[in-house]
Amino acid sequence: MKRPLLQVALDNLSLEDALDSLQCGVDEVVDIIECGTILIGAEGRRVIGLVRKLYPDKLLVADFKIADSGRVMGGMILDGHPDLMTVICSAHPSTMKAVLDEIKDRGMNTEVQLELYGNWTFEDVETWKSLGIRHVILHHARDIKGGWSKEEVELTKRLCDAGMKVTVTGSIGYDDLELFKGLPVWCIICGRSIRDAADPKAEAQRMKDRLVELWEDHE
Ligand code: 5RP
Repeated sequence: MKRPLLQVALDNLSLEDALDSLQCGVDEVVDIIECGTILIGAEGRRVIGLVRKLYPDKLLVADFKIADSGRVMGGMILDGHPDLMTVICSAHPSTMKAVLDEIKDRGMNTEVQLELYGNWTFEDVETWKSLGIRHVILHHARDIKGGWSKEEVELTKRLCDAGMKVTVTGSIGYDDLELFKGLPVWCIICGRSIRDAADPKAEAQRMKDRLVELWEDHE
């Protein structure tokens, strides 16, 4: 089983701060860079294009959690050429389709990831599949006190079993990686646990090494 990729979420309040978080060596270690919702909110969508220019060959996620106006909002994000972009699961299926249509009409390969928050069902999962969306991000909301529950980890497994490509995020640090051991999770997103570490590059490397250890152990 392949280890999950490691993604750093740039939820900084300024571009300068985001670049400091990246260019201390974290950029060399992580597999994926994310322009986070907070950074895009603080600095605007231009940050996506700027990070793309700096890292033309790195996987780049634009996490704007689109909720409506799929063509317009999707187009704004696609201008920055991300490899992946997020849409919130509560968006109407027509909005999801509008984002997909915008990607197609631009001749791009950007992959849509649905951010799972709040109420959704496995019936919804089938609807998303029928639209052509197979990638979900199971999100432990930042505002929940405490870490991942057993139920959330079980839900991760159910989503994998349902044939979805699954990414997990929200308050995940080094000690939490073991929770997902043995699951075919595609990617683990970490924000504060990397950015706020005393040595962010060393912490990102420690986490990546742990993923190799945990997933190789499982083989
Ligand atoms: C917030 C997000 C964050 O990027 C995600 O939760 C990761 O951040 P952290 O590891 O700091 O919780 O999508 O909307």
